[in-house]
Amino acid sequence: GLRTFLVGGNWKCNLSKDAITSLCKELAAAPDLETDKVEVVLAPPTPYLDHTRSVLRQDFEVAAQNIWVGGPGAYTGETAAEMIKDVGCTWVILGHSERRNLLQIRESDDFIAQKTKTALSHGLKVMFCIGETLEEREEGRTLDVCVRQLHALAETIGADDWKDVVIAYEPVWAIGTGKIATPDQVEEVHEKIRHYLAGDVNDKVAQETRILYGGSVSPGNCNELAQLPDVDGFLVGGASLKASFLEVIESFK
Ligand code: G3H
Repeated sequence: GLRTFLVGGNWKCNLSKDAITSLCKELAAAPDLETDKVEVVLAPPTPYLDHTRSVLRQDFEVAAQNIWVGGPGAYTGETAAEMIKDVGCTWVILGHSERRNLLQIRESDDFIAQKTKTALSHGLKVMFCIGETLEEREEGRTLDVCVRQLHALAETIGADDWKDVVIAYEPVWAIGTGKIATPDQVEEVHEKIRHYLAGDVNDKVAQETRILYGGSVSPGNCNELAQLPDVDGFLVGGASLKASFLEVIESFK
């Protein structure tokens, strides 16, 4: 199809070197996975990027969970796009709600858009996360919030640079809570995001940009969501820490 299904596994701040080695072995035990029909991307914690790349099956890609907004230099504790590339990573997750909303971090729309521009300019592909909090949904502001977050990106990267961008719609209230959005809620927002892209960017970007759903996706609920017309894959947290993540990957079928 127009939009190849994509499943991301965001390990967040979890696992150890040994646990990653074991999990990668288990993921390799599914040699018949049709990875020409589904892209799989795993995002380990920064210290394990290099190790993960070395033990992970070659037909899966590796993502960083964050990057620094600029180049290498005197930025203690940061990781430049160049370094991510240097250890064989091809993707980065940006704008995750845990970086937008955690009090000590509070990344802004504009900062995330700037980081996305930096990542793209170094040839990294970006999973750009958006989504509303429970309070924002209850106030009827879901679409406003998603559009505000996306508009910052559209303003920063323009219309030409979307081929390496994937949008991950992750309602904050569904992340790590076991409270999954209903298929109707998911399709409604995804469809509106595509409609927004057609208006603010262009039709080509609206039709070709993949929109993933994230928030309590599991082997038990992925198949129904995968059928929705505007769902092009998933960004999975907790359920990507176990070998049964393979069942979520298989939901593309
Ligand atoms: O990036 C992944 C999302 O935050 C979803 O996390 O699957 O544990 O709810 P979760």
